[in-house]
Amino acid sequence: MSHSGPKAPLAAAPSGPLRGTVEIPGDKSVSHRALILGAMTVGETKITGLLEGQDVLDTGKAMQALGAEVVRDGPGAWRVSGVGVGGFKEPEDVIDCGNSGTGVRLIMGAVATSPLTAIFTGDASLRSRPMGRVTIPLSNFGARAVGRSHGRLPLALVGAAAPGPVTYAMDTPSAQVKSAMLLAGLNVPGITEVIEGERTRDHTERMLRGFGAEVEVIEIEGGRRIRLTGQPELKPCEIAVPRDPSSAAFPICAALITPGSEVRVPNVSLNPTRAGLYTTLREMGADLVFENEREEGGEPVADLVARHSELHGVEVPPERAASMIDEYPVLSAVAAFATGKTVMLGVKELRVKESDRIDAMARGLEACGVTVEETADTMTVHGLAGDVPGGATVEARLDHRIAMSFLVLGCAAKTAVTVDDAGPIATSFPGFRPLMAALGASLDEPEAA
Ligand code: S3P
Repeated sequence: MSHSGPKAPLAAAPSGPLRGTVEIPGDKSVSHRALILGAMTVGETKITGLLEGQDVLDTGKAMQALGAEVVRDGPGAWRVSGVGVGGFKEPEDVIDCGNSGTGVRLIMGAVATSPLTAIFTGDASLRSRPMGRVTIPLSNFGARAVGRSHGRLPLALVGAAAPGPVTYAMDTPSAQVKSAMLLAGLNVPGITEVIEGERTRDHTERMLRGFGAEVEVIEIEGGRRIRLTGQPELKPCEIAVPRDPSSAAFPICAALITPGSEVRVPNVSLNPTRAGLYTTLREMGADLVFENEREEGGEPVADLVARHSELHGVEVPPERAASMIDEYPVLSAVAAFATGKTVMLGVKELRVKESDRIDAMARGLEACGVTVEETADTMTVHGLAGDVPGGATVEARLDHRIAMSFLVLGCAAKTAVTVDDAGPIATSFPGFRPLMAALGASLDEPEAA
């Protein structure tokens, strides 16, 4: 379902200190995959800690449209009774994935090797994003897609009736593309192989194994070869979704830039394919401690404690981009408070996210008094050593992470920062506002002009 209706402006005024312990919602990537793999399994998969953001709810509805039973037992507690690999039925209506690129791309993969036709759409942000990066590789299995120009949604996907195994070398570092190919490979006899030149998040591989599929991962220079044996009988699982490091980033970054703050965020996933922001923040001089490091449900987890810090700019290397791809917006907000410049290299993928995130952050930061330089695939933020003017209204552009990043910035700026629409935050972090308020952030509807 799309975020539609009137815009919901929200302002962050100078706040703090931010103090306390906050429970972050479940990981979005893991939540999508739990619903999709549960739907491809015969029997009942039980999920706890599922993210109940709109993106994930839309994936749940899509799984129902494809024939699975998806039931909510209580907050974060869901059951999926699946149809088995190859058991999807043709959906009767258009599948609306709302704002979610992960949802639509993974579901296209999951249906691409079944003899059915499915039609996909989404909100204005999703309808503007490239789908050829998934439909072109899926055509190697024999799936056909007809969309609008540049392969954009709405799009009809005709699944392959007699798919054969595929070896695919990815040209874009994208866990969504990798996952779409692996999910498609599930309903194909023989071995499907995906080669990634850069390591991207590996939740699909981990979870496929958890469901009993045979997945071989071979480390290669910089990346991985992933070999999936097709047509497994997936076994239902109990999945405890870890807390989302990409969401934890917002209160943690707010604490680092707001004087006097100390914030604790327990049980956060520190999967190495997701933890690049935390490495970068520490390089910038962040007082960021990992306590109680342990493993839960196959994922490394820790309790994170962040305290206000004097930060300095750094150069973030391109090979780290995949492990923090969703965190550059909030990093660029933090970088505005550092001393010296922060250079982010190899970040062209940011231009095809929920918004063009380089442009959205650069324009918003400039409006807040921060100098930014950009090229096609780099962004440089000139830090103001704690003195960020703020005082602007910035556009969220239907992008949850842009909205949250500027609200974080507003907590520590000299003057309040308003985002024109905080509605999209519900796609990934429904409790963001009360959670930040509980820490001491001043988030309020702006007074009418
Ligand atoms: C995701 C992969 C990333 C990320 C997105 C979630 C996933 O996208 O930005 O928020 O769950 O696979 P790309 O595959 O486009 O890098």
